Amino acid sequence: MSSANVRVPAKINLCLGVGPVRDDGYHPLATVYQAVDLHDEVRATSRDDGEITVTVHSDLDAKSEVAIVPEDADNLAVKAARLLQERTGVTLGADLAIRKVIPVAGGMAGGSADAAASLVACNEAWGTGLSRSSLEQLAARLGSDVPFLLHGGNAIGGGRGETISPVLARGSYHWVFAMAHEGLSTAAVYAEFDRLNEGATVPEPVVPDALLAALRAGDAEALGDALSNDLTEAALSLRPELEDTLSIGIEAGALGAILSGSGPTALFLASDDQHSLDIAFALSSAAGCADVVQSRGPVHGARLG
Ligand code: C5P
Repeated sequence: MSSANVRVPAKINLCLGVGPVRDDGYHPLATVYQAVDLHDEVRATSRDDGEITVTVHSDLDAKSEVAIVPEDADNLAVKAARLLQERTGVTLGADLAIRKVIPVAGGMAGGSADAAASLVACNEAWGTGLSRSSLEQLAARLGSDVPFLLHGGNAIGGGRGETISPVLARGSYHWVFAMAHEGLSTAAVYAEFDRLNEGATVPEPVVPDALLAALRAGDAEALGDALSNDLTEAALSLRPELEDTLSIGIEAGALGAILSGSGPTALFLASDDQHSLDIAFALSSAAGCADVVQSRGPVHGARLG
């Protein structure tokens, strides 16, 4: 029986351009991903009978949130292990143990992160030896964000988010994350985006030049100004109180403030550790804020360790 442990980061979108809904129900995206220092862990222990089981343990403050992570075949980490079994023909199974730190339904790709980690952990525990690029192909079938969570660092995301290409970037950034009391469904936020844009012409999304220039220069102030998210209006329409959370961070001097992906986690850019502490302190008393976390990015993608 062999086992492997994998640490996998959360992601944020520095910009999230969303285009008109496609025939398959997905939206074309133009985004820049950054992997941040907030990690889930997935341990895979092989078993001889081909079964896949999963248990979820939470280190989150909002412990109740973990109740909505399925501990059955619907768990994305289980789907990832099943896909790897199919692809390689391996007859082994695995017990998957997930330690959750990334907020559930928080717009930080926690479920996708666990799927990416499960691919890497099972590939190791089973000795199936698929290359990173083969794993990335499987990842794209599991969810839009999964390939990026294997990749890590900074990257441009196209297609429905699953097409990753390199971006020239320097610098390490200080982030503050304000977690909400209750998650938001990604599908529901995209549906609200469609509802709000009904009858309007939604342009094809592009990554703003100003954001790419800020990353190339490693200029936190310029990056703060260039942060953008086309899902903001839709997420605020479903959760109006998030506006207060964003305002508190801006008043505390954040260089930039946006929702993370489809929300409800809000993210704030700080200039250094002290600034990040000041913003975190201001947010800690906000009514809509269940937890505040200081973090750094970019970090590596899913890795053994
Ligand atoms: O790909 P993933 O499973 O993460 O997407 C979850 C849901 O979010 C999709 O079922 C879809 O409703 C919505 N989505 C979208 N366009 C994208 C990514 C996700 O509409 N580019």
